[in-house]
Amino acid sequence: MKMWAGRFRQALDPQFERWQRSFPFDQRLIGEELAASGAHARALASAGVLSQAELDSILRGLEEIGRQAATPELLQDDEAEDVHHFVEKRLVALIGEAGYKLHSGRSRNEQIATDLRLYVRGSIDNLQRGLGELLETLVARAEKSGVAAMPSYTHLQPAEPVLVAHWLLAYAEMFFRDSGRLADCRKRLNQCPLGSGAVAGATLLLDRSTMSAELGFDQSTANSLDATSDRDFALEFVQALSLLAIHFSRLAEEMILFSTREFGFVRLPEAFSTGSSAMPQKQNPDSMELIRGKAARVVGEAMSLGATVKGLPLAYNKDLQETQEPVFSVAETMQGVVAIAAGFMSAVEFDYDRMHAAASSGFMNAMAAAHYLAARGVPFRHAHEKIGQAVQWCIENHCELADMPLDEVRSFAPEADQEFYSHLTLDAVLGCHNVEGGTAPVRVRQALAEARERLAALKGEQHAHA
Ligand code: ARG
Repeated sequence: MKMWAGRFRQALDPQFERWQRSFPFDQRLIGEELAASGAHARALASAGVLSQAELDSILRGLEEIGRQAATPELLQDDEAEDVHHFVEKRLVALIGEAGYKLHSGRSRNEQIATDLRLYVRGSIDNLQRGLGELLETLVARAEKSGVAAMPSYTHLQPAEPVLVAHWLLAYAEMFFRDSGRLADCRKRLNQCPLGSGAVAGATLLLDRSTMSAELGFDQSTANSLDATSDRDFALEFVQALSLLAIHFSRLAEEMILFSTREFGFVRLPEAFSTGSSAMPQKQNPDSMELIRGKAARVVGEAMSLGATVKGLPLAYNKDLQETQEPVFSVAETMQGVVAIAAGFMSAVEFDYDRMHAAASSGFMNAMAAAHYLAARGVPFRHAHEKIGQAVQWCIENHCELADMPLDEVRSFAPEADQEFYSHLTLDAVLGCHNVEGGTAPVRVRQALAEARERLAALKGEQHAHA
């Protein structure tokens, strides 16, 4: 039986009938739908709409549907319009007429709003666990890398040496922010729309706070018009994840670049690479390329979701059915990305020797040299000019600043003395970035300790939501 056929004299166009169904994708929400239906059924019984016997049989029916849903073939239903219709049909098939009472005082508009919130909440908890593991890996690898150094780049040109740990912690910062955004989204979404009815609020005096608490929400939504048409939580979720995807695409890009023969800073783990069907020598960074590529899909889905909600009048409009697939696609894509990235990052090998060699040449000590002159009273702009000329001399003479004889140095910078050279070593250059947030080893140790604390806090939060 359809959920709404009474008013109609004609059958639906068969093509339209098939085309408008959301069951092919919203069957993902069956667990959420059953949980929300159970809460609604108990509220109906408390309001005296269902007898105890009816309630018991509905709850048993819902449980049975939950068991059946574990078998994909049992979700085959070419008539179900959506997951709500599917559950009603199954319930009636299992327990008879009492199943039709379940829809008393509710609307699919509040149901989908509730199911989707539960789905997003569950996905956030899942993603947070994955991000926690990834962060654990990044921090542990940063700790293990000790004082190993590598070049940093601006404009992708060698800039200044940094600790490998500093580089890894830069990504940790991004992922900590992503985790914070998801936590923030979770806080705001955790309100229960049940009791909102189709648009104006339920006509039965349902105990909303009990339904809300049963489903693990913090409270009920405040306004039925808003609650039945609000998809802000979905937007925040996909937007937070599109930023996460963008961060992953940056990490992936560096892994791809640094694994090239020309850089050779990282060795790709075979378990996360593939070969070429044509060129026998190849080991390709497909895992990272796919992660970089998936960001496009996620950013696109976030755009499509925003465009769907834009300009919608209050309250529920069927357009909102179109908000589901971007949410599913983004959640599922990012669960995969987080897991693969975490696996890759724990398996990738760093070639510290190559990194060290690259960090020790290419004039990445030039700014430190200019600061040495500045500390001797030369205005920085002039110091910059003098060291620039010294660099030019080195380029012409195929050497580094440290190889330059002192009298040549003095020809550009008479203020320089023998001490000049002690400011050029890798250790000296690293150590002089001794400001909070800088790459001096003592600062990086401090940053690592702080990262550990934040990680512990994050895990504590996860535990609370488990
Ligand atoms: N499948 C619908 C959706 O996802 C459920 C809500 C339908 N409500 C309605 N008034 N037709 O939006």
